[in-house]
Amino acid sequence: MTGVAPLAVVTGGSRGIGRAFVLEAVRRGYRVVFSYRRQEAQAVETVEQAAGIGGEAVRVQADLGAFEGVKAVAEAARAQGQVSLLVNNAGIGEEYTLEELTREAWERAVAINLTAPTFLAKELRADLVSLRGAILNVSSDGGVAGSLHGAPYGATKAGLIGLTKTLARELAPHVRVNAIAPGPVATDMWAAIDPAVQERVMEREMPLKRIAQPEDIARAGLDISSWPDASGIVVLLDGGRIM
Ligand SMILES: NC(=O)c1ccc[n+]([C@@H]2O[C@H](COP(=O)([O-])OP(=O)(O)OC[C@H]3O[C@@H](n4cnc5c(N)ncnc54)[C@H](OP(=O)(O)O)[C@@H]3O)[C@@H](O)[C@H]2O)c1
Repeated sequence: MTGVAPLAVVTGGSRGIGRAFVLEAVRRGYRVVFSYRRQEAQAVETVEQAAGIGGEAVRVQADLGAFEGVKAVAEAARAQGQVSLLVNNAGIGEEYTLEELTREAWERAVAINLTAPTFLAKELRADLVSLRGAILNVSSDGGVAGSLHGAPYGATKAGLIGLTKTLARELAPHVRVNAIAPGPVATDMWAAIDPAVQERVMEREMPLKRIAQPEDIARAGLDISSWPDASGIVVLLDGGRIM
């Protein structure tokens, strides 16, 4: 492996927090394979931004709501080498009350937010074990304290925390598995929330009166992933919202 940059996989790297993870990983010397679903132009922009800072990011189109998408990401990664870091970032935050919730919406959230991270970890397990790598799962403060967005989001993000701790036990001592649980972050996902709800959250729930930037989450997430003693931890990065 001497002289070869370590390889990271980031899901959902076309925009938002995922793009920040791609760029921060590149800054830290990783080559990155990242997935996106629909936003090809934005994915190309991520590749260009990575090149602009002297690094290499490879994009792979994949719908992580389908098992073939998980396979496609793993295959694209293996084509680049052995993976030492997996960042399970892609997620959907569709909002439903129980009254509105359909079986289809529930299953989509479970597939993208929980099944894909689990099976991507399974696909990349051998590489991660042999390189003594790390997995970072991007959960949410809603997974810790209950979500504003309803059952699919709250339950899948809580499930990711269970997955994190379970895999941290199962893959020890070879792979460290951690989670970051952001509060509101300035991305399209936050922008999609009703402005009245945004205002209420900021006024009543955010002691620091600050919405995190994607780069804040990426830096913290990659720091956590590099701590040799951190495994099974969930770092709440939510501006003091939950405490
Ligand atoms: N923003 C927040 O306030 C916040 C707070 C806590 C936790 N989080 C978590 O942080 C993560 C990133 O959030 P974000 O705000 O950056 O989200 P975002 O701006 O909505 O971006 C979502 C990313 O996931 C990808 N994606 C969505 N559905 C996909 C699918 N079916 N298959 C493959 N990729 C898919 C998107 O790809 P395309 O763009 O190509 O469609 C995009 O790259 C999510 O897991 C989210 O739950 C966000």
